[in-house]
Amino acid sequence: MPEFRPLSTEDHKYCLEIWRELSDHYEHPIGGGWNEVKISRELEEHHGIGAFDESGKLEAFCIYRKVPGLIEIMLLATGYRTHRMGAMRSLIRSLIEELNPEDVLWLEVHAGNLPAIALYESLGLKLCGERPNYYEDGGKALLFEYKPLQ
Ligand SMILES: CC(C)(COP(=O)(O)OP(=O)(O)OC[C@H]1O[C@@H](n2cnc3c(N)ncnc32)[C@H](O)[C@@H]1OP(=O)(O)O)[C@@H](O)C(=O)NCCC(=O)NCCS
Repeated sequence: MPEFRPLSTEDHKYCLEIWRELSDHYEHPIGGGWNEVKISRELEEHHGIGAFDESGKLEAFCIYRKVPGLIEIMLLATGYRTHRMGAMRSLIRSLIEELNPEDVLWLEVHAGNLPAIALYESLGLKLCGERPNYYEDGGKALLFEYKPLQ
């Protein structure tokens, strides 16, 4: 059973490792443009939560911004060796549990990223908008939200 804890800025290198490995192994399009500087800045200025295995290795992470009334997930990924073991479902659920009744959780995803879309739908997130031609490959972004009262 992984241990869940907030990420520190120091953890950015482990997030980056997961992200880079995924670029070689993931068969679906994901939004690009994430690099060491951007990940470490997000963790410095905003929030992250990670799932760690018993040896302390990061298995999955979720980086998000939080303002009153809104949690916006900026980046999430599970190390490819740990895919489909429930790590991301648990991490997103823990963010949903932080929401007050009137709050919204919000994120965007590449329309071709079918595993991520299946995950969000299984958690009760609802499609709430689209951004055509949003990604570098011309792909559309889908916007998903979760409202506790919906
Ligand atoms: C999308 C991603 C985060 C899912 O992480 P994960 O830890 O493997 O997901 P979980 O094991 O928690 O899956 C929970 C549910 O999501 C759905 N799901 C996850 N992967 C799926 C797949 N490959 N195909 C279909 N459904 C999938 C299923 O409903 C699954 O439940 P089930 O296994 O009981 O059927 C992972 O594939 C990943 O890291 N992808 C690359 C990064 C990315 O796409 N980030 C999102 C955009 S920033």
